[in-house]
Amino acid sequence: MTDSPRPQQPHQPLGLDTLAIREGIARTQYNEHNEPMFLTSSFVFDNAAQAAARFMGEEEGFIYSRAGNPTVAAFQNRLAALEGAEACVATASGMSAIMATVMSLTRAGDHVVAAYELFGATLQMFTILQRFGVEVTYVPIEDTDAWRAAIRPNTKLLYVETPSNPLTKLTDVRALAAVARERGVKLAVDNCFCSPALQRPLDLGADIVVHSATKYIDGQGRVLGGAVCGDAKYINETLAPFVRTTGPALSAFNAWVLLKGLETLGMRMERQSANAMKLAQWLEAQPGVGRVYYPGLTSHPQHALAMAQQKTGGAIVSFELGRDGEDLYGPLLRERAWRVIDACRLLSITANLGDVKTTITHPASTTHGRAGAEARRASGVTEGLIRIAVGAETPEDLIADLAGGLAAAG
Ligand SMILES: Cc1ncc(COP(=O)(O)O)c(C=O)c1O
Repeated sequence: MTDSPRPQQPHQPLGLDTLAIREGIARTQYNEHNEPMFLTSSFVFDNAAQAAARFMGEEEGFIYSRAGNPTVAAFQNRLAALEGAEACVATASGMSAIMATVMSLTRAGDHVVAAYELFGATLQMFTILQRFGVEVTYVPIEDTDAWRAAIRPNTKLLYVETPSNPLTKLTDVRALAAVARERGVKLAVDNCFCSPALQRPLDLGADIVVHSATKYIDGQGRVLGGAVCGDAKYINETLAPFVRTTGPALSAFNAWVLLKGLETLGMRMERQSANAMKLAQWLEAQPGVGRVYYPGLTSHPQHALAMAQQKTGGAIVSFELGRDGEDLYGPLLRERAWRVIDACRLLSITANLGDVKTTITHPASTTHGRAGAEARRASGVTEGLIRIAVGAETPEDLIADLAGGLAAAG
């Protein structure tokens, strides 16, 4: 028996699942076991001198929740540990994380290279930023030489989402990171589709990881959230002041929900990936189905790369309706895709992904609807494309539901 305090240092470096459950906990004087939720907009000072010292950054401590909050800090520390990052700043949504990343690194006259294959709102955000003088060049996501050729003297950032939404195309992150290093620009990777349970872009050489925590990090479709992870200098000296001043702070409530989400991230990703593989293999054998896009399938053109930089193929499966000779961008295929979706009884018709509940989406008329026909063609989002964000239900039930949908579409 000993009455000395329990040592805090673990015996060995911790595994990803342990970090997802335990990292970032700072207990209060009550020694609670579960992470506390600090629902407070501001923090009280002992006296005016302490207030002044905190505001001037001469004393560590919380001031106001737009600038920092203990529950949000716990989430940031946990996610940083999972991504292998020195630091992390959480934001109110994935889009605010992406906007803060791009705006904190650029000014009027600067240039960004991005993949054609981006989430619809990210494409629109780049259009808005062009109004403020930030130019964007789009390149095919998988073509490292095209990325290299697009870099100019005023390029500040390479921006990519891998696997991409909804076609699950990949960038070779190691190769692109080498290009970024060689040309002195930063590489930011949206790791939304994989989460750190399946892919750690910083280990592959990227500089920055952005997240829509709304997706797999929550994992149960409850709250919006986002995050940016990277080296301490960029996060603390460039990004954090931008977020603190412009205001897209994550709420303490949402941070608490996301902390709970992270606890089950590893097992959810494993189960949802296994379900996705079963569904993708079944879809490949269906006569009414054209191409199936899933990096876990050996038929995926970048399967080998996926297995080299991801732990599994992930949990997003997209597939095309459409037979040889059909106009892939025509209204007939849109009608057929809608009939498949409407005839499914279990899968949720909703735009979200990353939930344990499987969702079914028609990207051309929803997530990529506002991007415009030209951008859809450039990124290959056809009218017959359907995206399934595979959840954790019994896989046979998902297959049976989709079989009903395909049968109804004829
Ligand atoms: C790949 C990707 N990045 C970013 C976002 C934006 O995240 P949020 O909806 O949390 O703003 C999404 C949303 O679907 C997404 O799929």
